[in-house]
Amino acid sequence: MRTRLAEPYLPTVSEFNEVIREIWDSRILTNGALLERVRNNLRKIIGAKYVTLTSTGTHALELLLRSLKLTGRVKGDLAIIPDYTFIATLNAVYRSGFKPIIIDVTLKSWTIDPDSLNRALEETEADLVIAVDPFGFPADYDLLLEICEKHSAVLVSDSSESLGAKYRGVPLGTQALAHTFSFSPTKIVTAGEGGAIATNDEELAFTLEKLRDYGRGLGDKGIKNGTNSRISEINLAILYLGLKKLSDLIELRYKQYMRYRDRLEPLGFRFQDQEEKEPAVSYTVAILMDDAQKVSNLRNFLISKGIETKQYFLPLTSLIMERHYPTPNSYKLFRGSLALPTGHHLSEEEQEEILKAISIWFREH
Ligand SMILES: Cc1ncc(COP(=O)(O)O)c(C=O)c1O
Repeated sequence: MRTRLAEPYLPTVSEFNEVIREIWDSRILTNGALLERVRNNLRKIIGAKYVTLTSTGTHALELLLRSLKLTGRVKGDLAIIPDYTFIATLNAVYRSGFKPIIIDVTLKSWTIDPDSLNRALEETEADLVIAVDPFGFPADYDLLLEICEKHSAVLVSDSSESLGAKYRGVPLGTQALAHTFSFSPTKIVTAGEGGAIATNDEELAFTLEKLRDYGRGLGDKGIKNGTNSRISEINLAILYLGLKKLSDLIELRYKQYMRYRDRLEPLGFRFQDQEEKEPAVSYTVAILMDDAQKVSNLRNFLISKGIETKQYFLPLTSLIMERHYPTPNSYKLFRGSLALPTGHHLSEEEQEEILKAISIWFREH
C-alpha cells in the first residue's frame, strides 16, 4: 500500500470533455467565456467585488505588489512577511522590487505573530504587511488590521492555500485590502497551474487586469511592470469543474482534520488551531511535536508503511542573509511538524491505517 500525501482533485474525463468541447467550438483559448464564469464563481465564493485570474499564484502576488506601488497605496519598498511560508511569497516580494523584513508566527495558528508585527512596524519604515494563511487557517485579521492602521501600513494577504476558509464566519478574501490564491496541483481545487487576486478596491482591480495583459492600457508604467499572466481556457476548465465541488472537498478535509485531531491529541500531538469553531482545512493537516529527532523517526516509520508525509516550511530566514527578526517559532514548526495525507484521495479506511500506524509507533517510543 502507498498512501500519497496529496493528489490533485480532477473531474472525470467525460465532465472535462463537455467543457472542452465548448472551448473548441468557441475557438477562443484565452480571455474567453470560462474566464468570466470562473471569475463570477470565485467572486461569489469569496464575496469580493473583483477577482483577477492569473497563470500562477506566485504571479498573482507579484502583480498585486506591483499594483500597490503603481496605485500609490504603498510608498516604501519594505514588506513585512512571516518566516513560516512557502518560498513563493519571498519570490514575489523580490520580483516586485520590495525588500523583505521577516518576522515570526504564533505556535497556535502558525500565522503572523501580532506582537512581532507591532515591533517591526515600530522599528522600521515598512508600510506594507503581507499576511499568510497556511493550510486553511486564517491569520487574525481584526488584530492585524488594528496594528496596521495604527502604523498607517497596508495589509494584504497570501491566502494561496486557503480558498474556502472562513474568518469569524466570513469567507476569507476580503479582510485585507487584497488576497491572493493559488490553483497549483496540490491546492484544494486546481487549474493545473493558476492563481487569483480578490479585492474590493476598484482601482487596484483595474490595474491588476492590465498588468496581467502585458501592462497594456497603463502607458509607460504598464510596459515596465506588465507581463503575460493570462490563464488559458483549458486550465480554467479544470478549475471551473473543481470549484463546483469546493464545499464537499472542504467538508471532507475538515472531517479528516477532526479525525486526526480526536485520535492524536490525547497522545500529546499538537495541531494548528484558530478561534473559529469550524476551521476550513483546505490544504493539509500537520501534527506538531517538540522533539525533531522523534519527527524524523516517525517519518521514517511511516515511509516503511508506505505512508507519505512532509515537513513544511523551510524557514525563509534559513535561505537569505538579510536582516530579520528572531523567528524561533518558525523553526519549531519546521522541525517539529509533520504533514499527514489529507484530501479526497484518502479513504476513511486509509486514514484509519495511518492512525493505527502512528499509535503503534507511539507505543514503541
Ligand atoms: C503560501 C503560498 N504562497 C504562494 C504559492 C505560490 O503559488 P503557485 O504555486 O500557484 O505559484 C503557494 C503554492 O504553491 C503557497 O503555498
